[in-house]
Amino acid sequence: MPLPAASKCPAVPLLLLVLFLVFSGGLQRASAQTPEADGDAPTMRSLSEDRNTLILQPESPPARTVADVFYLVLGIVFVIFLLVFVPLTWMLFRFRMRKEDEGIEPPQIYGSNPIELAWTVGPGMIVLVLFLVTARSIFEIEAAVPPADAVRVRVIGHQWWWEYEYPEYGFITANELHAPLAKDGSPRPVYVDLESADVIHSFWLPQLSGKTDVIPGRVNHLWFAAERPGWYTGQCAEYCGTQHAHMWLRVKAESEQDFKAWVANEQRDAVFDTAHREGHKLFMDNACANCHTIRGTTAAGKFAPDLTHLMSRKTIASGIIPNTREYLLQWIRDPQTLKVGCNMPDMKLTNAEVRKIVDYLLTLK
Ligand code: CUA
Repeated sequence: MPLPAASKCPAVPLLLLVLFLVFSGGLQRASAQTPEADGDAPTMRSLSEDRNTLILQPESPPARTVADVFYLVLGIVFVIFLLVFVPLTWMLFRFRMRKEDEGIEPPQIYGSNPIELAWTVGPGMIVLVLFLVTARSIFEIEAAVPPADAVRVRVIGHQWWWEYEYPEYGFITANELHAPLAKDGSPRPVYVDLESADVIHSFWLPQLSGKTDVIPGRVNHLWFAAERPGWYTGQCAEYCGTQHAHMWLRVKAESEQDFKAWVANEQRDAVFDTAHREGHKLFMDNACANCHTIRGTTAAGKFAPDLTHLMSRKTIASGIIPNTREYLLQWIRDPQTLKVGCNMPDMKLTNAEVRKIVDYLLTLK
């Protein structure tokens, strides 16, 4: 029986080409991106373009450990790849079907203890090495003892946004986490307790730490220590419903001084601006106040993001929309057009009412 002409099959070089393009594209993107600079007001476009969710640019010790494991695995599989494909290519050429073979198969060999032992023990050792290295990395990250000056954050995953409580400082905010950089030259880590208000989410900041599931009825932990200032981005990494893909994470790493100033502002109650009495009243009288909290007012809802210092945030809707007057108007008029399926309803307000509410919200600095 004539053998199929394997050497003429175009699938192998094609597959290699695709792999190469995908991988080099990823590396190129990784090397081009840096943490988003502060000060730039985000746009819809910049928010998605500036996202860096590649693990190849670690900026924090746990992320560096993860990247190291990645490169080790990549190195090992590359060697295996060469061990398989170099002899394979050579054999395809060297032992290709020739005319004088007249379609006769070469002698078939069955059963060889040394060969079978080699291809069982070899891969077994490789799996063992990968297991040990991975386990060591996990324990190394988890065993880290929080220093006395570590910042504690309680993270609560909601469909589809993130709640951040800073228990030591006594305030709650949403979607944009602030983290201090090194203090007196030593990194100031952020220790995070992960909880869920509804379904399973996963907290993942590729440049800062590994990913950890956020499970209802359970508290998981994670830590990071950002080394460079700027905005870091992440993503909920466990399918949690319609807007899972729009459950972005944003972390601002800033100097100790800026962090302190931010904390001091967040700790204050909202200042009531009497010029926006009407918008304030509309907010309190409509269902807004049942879901949102504005400290210093009667609004004390726990179901939706705390809005006490809404305007200190650059984005709304879990990082996907710039926090500007224009988008706030659109958002309140009908959130479902910007984030389909989200739990904020269309309140059926008139345009004039929406404007008044937004003008009031704009005072929440
Ligand atoms: Cu939350 Cu996916």
